[in-house]
Amino acid sequence: MDNQDNSIQFQELEKANRILRKKLERCENERRQLESDISTKEFLLKKVISELEDSQTKLQQRSQELEDTLDSLHKMQTQMIQNEKMSALGQMVAGIAHEINNPVSFIYGNISHIKQYTHDLLRLVELYHSYFPNPPAEIQNERQAIDLEFLEKDATKILHSINIGTERIREIVLSLRNFSRLDESEFKAVDIHEGIDNTLLILQHRLKANDKSPEILVTKDYGNLPNVECYAGQINQVFMNILANALDAIAQFNAKRTYRQIQDHPSRITIHTSVVDSHWVKIAIADNGIGIPEAIQKNIFNPFFTTKPIGKGTGMGMAISYQIITEKHGGKLEFFSTPEQGTEFVIQIPLQQLIRPRDVLGEEENNK
Ligand SMILES: Nc1ncnc2c1ncn2[C@@H]1O[C@H](COP(=O)(O)OP(=O)(O)OP(=O)(O)O)[C@@H](O)[C@H]1O
Ligand SMILES: [Mg+2]
Repeated sequence: MDNQDNSIQFQELEKANRILRKKLERCENERRQLESDISTKEFLLKKVISELEDSQTKLQQRSQELEDTLDSLHKMQTQMIQNEKMSALGQMVAGIAHEINNPVSFIYGNISHIKQYTHDLLRLVELYHSYFPNPPAEIQNERQAIDLEFLEKDATKILHSINIGTERIREIVLSLRNFSRLDESEFKAVDIHEGIDNTLLILQHRLKANDKSPEILVTKDYGNLPNVECYAGQINQVFMNILANALDAIAQFNAKRTYRQIQDHPSRITIHTSVVDSHWVKIAIADNGIGIPEAIQKNIFNPFFTTKPIGKGTGMGMAISYQIITEKHGGKLEFFSTPEQGTEFVIQIPLQQLIRPRDVLGEEENNK
């Protein structure tokens, strides 16, 4: 009986054991399946993460590109507005310059005649007087009433003032015409140093010593420059504008110093030229004048910006120079200034104009 029981129990145990094994096997299979699922999912997740990271980088790049595009669009817009303003201003200025030019030339051209006529008439009166020293009372009274001696002196002074006034207007008209690009001079390869020297020669009278200040020293540090293709007349105008401003700045600074102080620290203009590389030349013109206050530095190239007294400055010098260097010659014009110490203007221009300037092409178009 016991044996039978035992064998039944044994069989049951074996059955249970088989069932357990099968369960274990199933569990094992499930575990394997799960593991493989997990690794597949992990792989997928990693892929998704890396794709996300990729797209994030791309998005960042894209947004950077968009920002850059927006930035350049803004710049372009400002440039276009500026161009539009300049061209409208140019046309207006050209119109005004043209309208003023004729009557002023008329006055200017006739001043010398009026001078001559006045001089002749006064001489004639004098001649009458020397031959008829005792004219009738009516003439004597009239002579006193008009105060002939005063008239003689004053007429000369008035004519002189008219002359200076019209000359000034002619200078302004000339600047305006240049600004509006009506006057185009020839485009050719020139010696830059010659242009600077000629300009200095014209300004010589302002460099000389006078009773208020000693001579202004000019230091020339000329490099070995090849000829530069440019509108020589216009480049000279830039030198003139910069040098005239430098002299004004020196005069302004010296107005605050005694003769002795100026002697101890002489006024100086330093001109330095050099070849930047095989394509560019650099011309730096420095003064040790009053300097430019930081607050107005952004305005220097604006048309009509001036800090000079009414009648002295038109505020066109630097605006014209900027236009000549950047637009007409594809160059750069910048300045560095320390108030109370001085200013340096730096011009950089290409040795050759790779693309022929717009103005030349424009002119040819017009001439067809
Ligand atoms: N070297 C300099 N030192 C100090 N200030 C300067 C210098 N160059 C230019 N400036 C400043 O820039 C302003 C503008 O110069 P710009 O030559 O355009 O006009 P302007 O000299 O006033 O008049 P103009 O049209 O008769 O030349 C000047 O009024 C002056 O304040
Ligand atoms: Mg000036």
